Amino acid sequence: MLAKDKKKKKEDLSEYYLMVKPILLHPEFLKRKTILHHQDSIYTHCLKVSLQGYRIAKKLKPYFPELSVQDVAIAGLLHDFYEHPWREEPLDKRFFRQHAFVHGYEAAKNAYIYFSDLMNPYIEDAIVKHMFPLYCHFPKYLEGWIITTADKIVSMEVFRHPLELPYYLGIRKYPEE
Ligand SMILES: [Fe+2]
Ligand SMILES: [Fe+2]
Repeated sequence: MLAKDKKKKKEDLSEYYLMVKPILLHPEFLKRKTILHHQDSIYTHCLKVSLQGYRIAKKLKPYFPELSVQDVAIAGLLHDFYEHPWREEPLDKRFFRQHAFVHGYEAAKNAYIYFSDLMNPYIEDAIVKHMFPLYCHFPKYLEGWIITTADKIVSMEVFRHPLELPYYLGIRKYPEE
């Protein structure tokens, strides 16, 4: 077995699971398994971003004791917690009402509806501003910087196909399949 594989096998995600269990098992979150985000379902994409963010936060925690690893894990899961399968809807003619600009707000609104007991201003800020720099305001907290970075790392695949970027950002409709 390769050393890299051994290392992968050893990763203990029980702490992570305890942090996000109520979300992962919630029927409203499970519905996102059926909504296509880009290449993945919203569920899979958010799980990837949450895990990526969790790993970054664990590494940074010793240097930033105030950082909440749990807030990062939760914000990652909920950052795209919107409900409309936007690929199937017509584009809004008003540029700044298009998916790329509004889904952070929609996700935060839904997060408060379904997970109000888990929400706080750090998580809210990370969700609303995860589309930075397209969303023009900087994340206010380190948790938000980690989420916007994790989202981009996970979404890196699209940068191999720059012509697909407008579809990815939600400012152009995917062609009919
Ligand atoms: Fe997003
Ligand atoms: Fe995302």
